[in-house]
Amino acid sequence: MAEHHSFDVLVLGSGAAGLTAALTLAQQYKVGVLAKGGLSDGATSWAQGGIAAVLEPGDTFDSHIEDTMIAGAGLNNRQAVEFVIESAPEAIARLAALGVPFNSGEGDQWHLTREGGHSHRRIVHVDDATGWAVQQALEKSAHDHPNITLVPDRVAIDLIMGRHQQRFSTSGRIHGVYALNRGTGLVETFTARATILATGGAGRTYLYSTAPRGATGDGIAMAWRAGCRVSNMEFMQFHPTCLYNLEVKNFLITEAVRGEGGQLKIPTTGERFMPRFDTREELAPRDIVARAIDHEIKRLGLDYVHLDISHKPPEFVREHFPNIHAKLLELGIDITTQPIPVVPAQHYTCGGVLIDLDGRTDAPGLYAAGEVTQSGLHGANRLASNSLLECLVFGEASARHIMANWDGLPDPPPIRDWDESRVTDSDEEVVIAQCWRELRRFMWNFVGIVRTTKRLERAKHRIDLLRQEVQDYYSAFRVTPDLVELRNLVEVADLIIRSALHRHESRGLHYTLDYPKTLPVPADTILVP
Ligand code: FAD
Ligand code: SIN
Repeated sequence: MAEHHSFDVLVLGSGAAGLTAALTLAQQYKVGVLAKGGLSDGATSWAQGGIAAVLEPGDTFDSHIEDTMIAGAGLNNRQAVEFVIESAPEAIARLAALGVPFNSGEGDQWHLTREGGHSHRRIVHVDDATGWAVQQALEKSAHDHPNITLVPDRVAIDLIMGRHQQRFSTSGRIHGVYALNRGTGLVETFTARATILATGGAGRTYLYSTAPRGATGDGIAMAWRAGCRVSNMEFMQFHPTCLYNLEVKNFLITEAVRGEGGQLKIPTTGERFMPRFDTREELAPRDIVARAIDHEIKRLGLDYVHLDISHKPPEFVREHFPNIHAKLLELGIDITTQPIPVVPAQHYTCGGVLIDLDGRTDAPGLYAAGEVTQSGLHGANRLASNSLLECLVFGEASARHIMANWDGLPDPPPIRDWDESRVTDSDEEVVIAQCWRELRRFMWNFVGIVRTTKRLERAKHRIDLLRQEVQDYYSAFRVTPDLVELRNLVEVADLIIRSALHRHESRGLHYTLDYPKTLPVPADTILVP
């Protein structure tokens, strides 16, 4: 008999969005927090630069709002932008109260660093490993809270809805999730009055990505299958400066290196090339810097470009970037004297499950927060360090909405166990590995930084074939974590390609040679299941 767990509220994901929601809800309710692997395995732990907020004298909410809207290229929802940015100082204060040791600056102020697209210094940080400090503080508080049960190593497979009830119903209300226990290999049932998706992004759809292994878009795919609209999936952010190294494939070099004076150079000549592309030079928004690097790499047949901060005093470099300095020393690069070889890599999923300002999705009982969502904050391109902020603000907002509307949320009905009667153990694991590799490579080559309709159509053709193969495999064999992820990657890649084909213009992160102009009226791409 499969295990059945019941909570007041279920949170899928233990990163900044999920744990913020859980800590708020735990003031009144019993909360279960599921993680696909270890609790710290999400992107939150990997964040380097920091969190954007208006904290410097002379800076204003209006300025942060304008910077966010400029980066978003006309597609931001102004209400969402104002909501998040005006909530930022309080969200940072809450983290500080939980013990996050933000670096201090002059007087009793925090030290603020600078990143591309920001017209002020406004990034609070903990050295160059902010995410790790945030994750540890949130995790410790959640661990210590008697109302929170942390459940690692559970791979959510599908959301539970009417058709999973013991008395079949056509209701689209979400009652929880089926999740695979990595330890036992059995699928367990988790039910709750409300469920919050906080499963992070879909970076692993691409061959090169700064995102962690688990960023396979599971929440986006699960919500889509459960009938929720998904929006703006064509806007994949590529970070300009991922370390180029044949062994270490996805180590980010924070934008703060450029914020503190780092320069991008052609390795063969030492020429600083960003002034040729944008007046903001190295601190232009990411899409512009990533495209400039891509252009120079392709034009000159390079493997990488150089990011150089060695003109700054060595103690300044070591003090600001202790982790990057140490990590690169291990690889034989002393960044106080040598440039860093870098290439662009997928970094952030701007699109996602459509939510309102309370974190509500289209499915009753289902909320979402963080990178899994399209909240209207980022538009066509995310401003640096606005995403941890989005996690904190929408994690809290969705929890508050659940608490304020508790009496309207019905108890979950009796749910059927996961049905394994028609499947057997796989005898061809190689199919999964092959499909993973194929998908990530053609997404990189055909749906990358610079697109064309022809390449997108090639990708669409391939994803249709893969979808059929993976569906056949899924119907025949018992689920494994890799199979669950592959099924979701195929779903999400399809959403990205369809969204990209739908947009007949270049805007923000979506740049296509066939439609180089930006249309006068901005419109979201909204896909309806
Ligand atoms: P995550 O922190 O990614 O957590 C996702 C959670 O969902 C994990 O617990 C995972 O186990 C769980 N999960 C996923 N699928 C399932 C499933 N099927 N079943 C159960 N659980 C599941 N942003 C900034 O604002 N500032 C920065 O400096 C910054 N630096 C970054 C550096 C790097 C290298 C990267 C990759 C990103 C960076 N970002 C930064 C982006 C930011 O880190 C993320 O957008 C943010 O942390 C996402 O948080 P989240 O809570 O939405 O998801
Ligand atoms: C970085 O540190 O460059 C990443 C910041 C971000 O992704 O917001």
